[in-house]
Amino acid sequence: MAPSSSSAVTLRINGETHTLTVDHRTTLLDALRERLDMTGSKKGCDHGQCGACTVLLDGRRTVSCLQLAVAAEGREITTIEGVADGEQLHPVQQAFLERDGYQCGYCTPGQICSAVAMLAEHEAGWPSAVTGDVRPEAAPPPLSDEEIRERMSGNLCRCGAYVSIVRAVSQAAGTETKAANASGVEARDTEARV
Ligand code: FES
Ligand code: FES
Repeated sequence: MAPSSSSAVTLRINGETHTLTVDHRTTLLDALRERLDMTGSKKGCDHGQCGACTVLLDGRRTVSCLQLAVAAEGREITTIEGVADGEQLHPVQQAFLERDGYQCGYCTPGQICSAVAMLAEHEAGWPSAVTGDVRPEAAPPPLSDEEIRERMSGNLCRCGAYVSIVRAVSQAAGTETKAANASGVEARDTEARV
């Protein structure tokens, strides 16, 4: 008898349990979007390169297009649909609204999920590639724009809303700099990278 190519999996998503039968090759992203009608997580590249599909697994960010649904069983999955607290937006969501951290919005769910986990990583003292002093006693490093850009570099924005995204993440972190408060000109500049 040929081995079965599908299995029943139980996925814990945004505090709710979902049981479904999936082909073993089904990615978590496709399970979310195509099977569970949770279309907040976006498919950009489907190759782990753009971050549009970012979700949290046990609080850690991951690209769901490279994660098999069967491998996510037993993990606590948080998608953009589960980031808010009921009607209360997550501070990162609120900051993206207030800082115009998007244009078309396609990358936004991934950016927000990534930022939520990134802020937790920073709070926990994790250094990044641009952290100057990586000694544990120096953690967490100041969350400069450079730190934010580096830590968010896995999330691409084809609209180039990077400056506003950095402003939004900075505001959510409560570390908004003077520059971030400068009106108009800087916020409309699109040269920065994330
Ligand atoms: S769709 Fe997953 S990283 Fe681009
Ligand atoms: S807002 Fe359009 S891709 Fe980022």
